[in-house]
Amino acid sequence: MAIFGKNKKESSAPSQLPADEGLILPVHVGIIMDGNGRWAKKRGLPRKAGHREGAKTFRTITRYCSEIGIKYLTVYAFSTENWKRPEDEVGALMGLFKSYLKEAIEDFKDDDIIVRFIGDKSGFSPELQELMAENEESSAHRDGMVLNIAMNYGSRDEIVRAVKNISADVKLGKISVEDIGEQLVSDYLYTAGQPDPDLIIRPSGEYRISNFMLWQSAYTEFVIMNKLWPDFQKSDLDEAVRIYSQRNRRYGGV
Ligand code: IPE
Ligand code: IPE
Ligand code: MG
Repeated sequence: MAIFGKNKKESSAPSQLPADEGLILPVHVGIIMDGNGRWAKKRGLPRKAGHREGAKTFRTITRYCSEIGIKYLTVYAFSTENWKRPEDEVGALMGLFKSYLKEAIEDFKDDDIIVRFIGDKSGFSPELQELMAENEESSAHRDGMVLNIAMNYGSRDEIVRAVKNISADVKLGKISVEDIGEQLVSDYLYTAGQPDPDLIIRPSGEYRISNFMLWQSAYTEFVIMNKLWPDFQKSDLDEAVRIYSQRNRRYGGV
């Protein structure tokens, strides 16, 4: 393995990170895949052209994360608020999701990637929901990196859903009010059973969280990068890992 020697697979990825650098690799990385629209605008292209390029970056960076030994990757692909975009842009995104999810079933097979979707699937067409289920089912037995694709995901929506489900289970007598604690709340989120993200990367230079993993990111390290997502390279991921590695995480201690 090219970088950290922690992954079972050999990688030909041209990483800039030498193995002896002593870097601390984040276990769980989140990426807010932002800047597709601006990338297209800069080139006088329609926004959907930016989404198409962004999808290519998604594939490259996902594979790369798996190669360097990241255990969990969560990518923010479509928020609960993104439905308010113009109809033709939303339509183009749904079309891209469809073709992408068809490919993904085969695509991530060789990388042993487990594909999961976080978000409210019921907002999508039956065809897309079917493709999401197929991706999840066909990859569930694998033992590589877990890839969470956040689609129709909003962290507030996720928390509201958790509160409703917790209340329902209290009412049914499955749990009692005394059982409710931080761990139980985590267990009712889409990311149940997964470690919180260590590092969240936001390309495109925006300093905001835009409703992504609010609960889970209580002690996450944020790295904002000025590249637009379609321009994001493996070397940018390397740089984010380097920056993360130099941070002093204190969790409220000293
Ligand atoms: C991210 O890129 C993709 C989605 C939100 C679906 P944007 O479309 O938000 O690109 P900008 O931020 O307008 O450049
Ligand atoms: C966040 O980006 C959502 C995704 C990348 C999927 P947005 O472009 O929707 O966020 P804002 O509007 O800049 O906050
Ligand atoms: Mg944006």
